[in-house]
Amino acid sequence: MHYQKIVVIGAGTMGSGIAQWFAQQLCSVELVDNSEEQLQKALKGIYDSWDKLVQKQKLNVTEVEKMKGLLSVKGLGKVARDADLVIEAIIENLEVKKSLFQKLDQHFAPHTIISSNTSSFPISLMSEALSPARKPRFVGLHFFNPATIMKLVEVIKSETTDELLARDLYDWFESKNKKPALCKDSPGFIVNRVARNFYGEPLRIAEDDNEEKMKEIDRILKEVGGFKMGPFELMDLIGIDVNYSVTCSVWEAYGKEPRFAPHALQKQMVEEKRFGRKSKRGFYKYD
Ligand code: NAI
Repeated sequence: MHYQKIVVIGAGTMGSGIAQWFAQQLCSVELVDNSEEQLQKALKGIYDSWDKLVQKQKLNVTEVEKMKGLLSVKGLGKVARDADLVIEAIIENLEVKKSLFQKLDQHFAPHTIISSNTSSFPISLMSEALSPARKPRFVGLHFFNPATIMKLVEVIKSETTDELLARDLYDWFESKNKKPALCKDSPGFIVNRVARNFYGEPLRIAEDDNEEKMKEIDRILKEVGGFKMGPFELMDLIGIDVNYSVTCSVWEAYGKEPRFAPHALQKQMVEEKRFGRKSKRGFYKYD
């Protein structure tokens, strides 16, 4: 199968990166958001990124012009109905996602595959919003941030996902130089389940909002642990709001096991709108 017509819903951190990556594979991409401002911001971000890649001689001007021609931004009502693959990357809220899936099910042609980039919600739970005919064509596709660079894509098959469809997506991503992994439909899948402790333990070690301690923990994990980013730097990149939602959802799904418990500081930061890099203030300041 060739996935040529792609629709990405949600033009935030992940959706814009996913849209950029697909355009770089020379797929036609429609990027959708319910905020026009967000769409324009995403488009500018992608264009700026391509300009930098040209400066670094990783892409040439002709290639970038072609990619720009393949990418468009719009509201859902204007999207063509015959997409091969739709990737949902809106906020991590189960009810909002389910209500969107109902609309997508009605909007798209029977052959269209609908997928979610959710970090934590079981695919089977979200598929409750879909018609029986669509369920085999609903799958989890979990990209990592930044989606243009990170190679891993978790392909999550629920009990109703067509096995061959999941396998075909796996093979396609592999042919495009990603490193896919087939995952069981369990809360947090593989990486976000393991990573809970990479965020939770450092927060418990730091105890409170102390930048010096956070810097030290980040430094040690990078220098001694060999991680490319420390946990506080990474949470700032992911988005404190997104990371907090994922933490709560995995914790709830595992019966509030203490090892997955959110830290009070995460909630406090969300209330203070300290969302990390995207709001220029998280554990660190970005001016
Ligand atoms: P974000 O907050 O940066 O972007 C979400 C976008 O969705 C916003 O532009 C918002 O306007 C839009 N939106 C909200 N409701 C909508 C609707 N009903 N229709 C159309 N657009 C709508 O969030 P982010 O970080 O991009 O996360 C998106 C999804 O990807 C979440 O499910 C998250 O768990 C997942 N994810 C996030 C990662 C990260 O590092 N931030 C990594 C992997 C997955």
